[in-house]
Amino acid sequence: MFFVTFCGCIGALRENIHLLKTFSFSLTLVFLTQLAIAVLGFFYSDQTRDALGKFVNKAIVHYRDDLDLQNLMDYIQREFKCCGWNNHTDWSWNLYFNCTQGNPSSERCAVPYSCCTPVPGEVVINTMCGFGVQTQNYLEATKSIYPVGCADRAVLWIESHLLLVGALALGLSLPQIAGIVLSQILISQIQDEISSVL
Ligand SMILES: *[C@@H]1O[C@H](CO)[C@@H](O)[C@H](O)[C@H]1NC(C)=O
Ligand SMILES: *[C@@H]1O[C@H](CO)[C@@H](O)[C@H](O)[C@H]1NC(C)=O
Repeated sequence: MFFVTFCGCIGALRENIHLLKTFSFSLTLVFLTQLAIAVLGFFYSDQTRDALGKFVNKAIVHYRDDLDLQNLMDYIQREFKCCGWNNHTDWSWNLYFNCTQGNPSSERCAVPYSCCTPVPGEVVINTMCGFGVQTQNYLEATKSIYPVGCADRAVLWIESHLLLVGALALGLSLPQIAGIVLSQILISQIQDEISSVL
């Protein structure tokens, strides 16, 4: 930023064509990079969602083997108030929570308690509040856990922030375009001046 503004400021002050051209070129480069990122983000949003889904699947499968993944999943579910990727039954992907008949795990058909909606005024956290909820339907599950899958939450979050990013990008690109146009006008005026003198 220092380099670009230095070129623009001194270039305009001294009417130096080289500095003004460097300024204009740098702004154009930054602008095109922003445009490319915006276009890529827009067209690859489905791929982004699929990649996130694969990652959450891995985090659910290895929930009990990897403390980092466990902490991350707990954090995501609490922060976004969601459970599983599509819905809470996704916890069957994990060996311990798998709801298949004959699974000897004591947590069969359960979900981790990071899925649970906090009970107001509760002193001792009920870590077993998610037990058996995979057998419940959406309405029953609503009573004890966040019934919404993290995929829907993620899409909502990304969409609401895309709007913010879009607004910011627009706010940033207007002065950039103004800078490019004005420096080009100044360059051509200086060139006219030089050729009229010669
Ligand atoms: C649960 O475990 C059974 C038996 O191991 C397996 O066939 C099934 O695919 C598992 N469920 C999920 C959702 O992965
Ligand atoms: C959970 O999501 C799966 C896959 O999208 C769907 O087949 C299943 O019916 C859903 N279960 C509930 C209880 O909503």
